[in-house]
Amino acid sequence: MSTNRFWRLNARPEGNDYPAALSLEEETVAPPPDGQVLVKADYLSMDPGVRVWMTAREDGYSPPVPLGSPMQGQFIGKVVESAHADFSVGETVRGFGHWATHSTVDPALSGLTKLDPEIDDVRQHFGALGLNGWTALCGLTDVMDVKPGETVLISAAAGATGGVACQIARNLGCRVIGIAGSDAKCSFLTDELGIDAAINYKTQDVGAELEKLGGNIDAYFENVGGDLLDAALPNMAMYGKIGICGLIGGYTSESGMPGPARFDQILMKRLIVKGIFLPDYMAQGKDYYPALKRWYQEGKMQLDFDETKGIENVLDAFTRLMTGKNTGKVIVDIRD
Ligand SMILES: NC(=O)c1ccc[n+]([C@@H]2O[C@H](COP(=O)([O-])OP(=O)(O)OC[C@H]3O[C@@H](n4cnc5c(N)ncnc54)[C@H](OP(=O)(O)O)[C@@H]3O)[C@@H](O)[C@H]2O)c1
Repeated sequence: MSTNRFWRLNARPEGNDYPAALSLEEETVAPPPDGQVLVKADYLSMDPGVRVWMTAREDGYSPPVPLGSPMQGQFIGKVVESAHADFSVGETVRGFGHWATHSTVDPALSGLTKLDPEIDDVRQHFGALGLNGWTALCGLTDVMDVKPGETVLISAAAGATGGVACQIARNLGCRVIGIAGSDAKCSFLTDELGIDAAINYKTQDVGAELEKLGGNIDAYFENVGGDLLDAALPNMAMYGKIGICGLIGGYTSESGMPGPARFDQILMKRLIVKGIFLPDYMAQGKDYYPALKRWYQEGKMQLDFDETKGIENVLDAFTRLMTGKNTGKVIVDIRD
């Protein structure tokens, strides 16, 4: 009998105080019931969206994680027991399960997917070739319909989703401006990812910098909200598009994020503002994977990892993500 080690949500966290709200527990692993699969995880993905599921908010796109339950999140791992005809022991898979060494999942509900063996780094199935990459491509193309030559602004640009979005927009022939929280991140964006300009929102006046860069932003890929959205709004081009991918600036709040102070610019500039939610497009049968795989294999899209080791250090990794310590994708390596 194996032992599952999992993080349990005991209370709604205050701010970024995760140790007070979650505890590492152990249980004996039971065989999967009919139709389900038992996966032993190699890696866990840290995603800011799950911070909203830690709150009691009922108005999100996913319900709150019930107190006393295992914390939910994405894993990459191997099937160790299967009671489902489509999955066999030993297969490498990705899905939504728990912050745990073992997850027992219903393949349809967890989005359980067998991973492409042609990819040299399995971890990219979380980032460039996973949720972050798909969301970036979906947001830039199907939601905002960006065109070559357009100016695209991206916040949290040195993170997983933002970093991939920067490279996709560059690959699509756009002029790309990134916003990030340190000079090192800004240099990484211009020097390593090859985007046109980067603004450090912690030391620079973002609105003034955007104005100096000529304003006229055709598309804003928003990951943060708050002051950054207010800085972008007056700098949007007429008929510009704003895709709201994330609002991380408000995720620790139990009441969500208030609307922008410069809401009037939506009228003045006749802007289109839309939420970006990948499952809406997947449900239409969209497949973003081939384009992402091609760019990745051609060396036109990279994503570095901010990797922490050990299931016992998951909360450190999540705190790094939620306090901007990361460049690239935050993951936890929990291999034996
Ligand atoms: N809609 C969807 O389906 C979907 C899917 C995936 C991700 N997302 C969203 O995309 C955004 C980025 O997610 P990710 O997984 O790629 O994470 P990430 O960008 O790798 O990490 C989060 C980054 O946000 C930045 N940030 C800016 N303001 C912040 C604030 N007030 N508090 C904390 N961090 C702040 C930090 O970098 P700085 O140094 O620049 O501050 C931090 O590195 C999130 O808003 C997430 O919810 C949405």
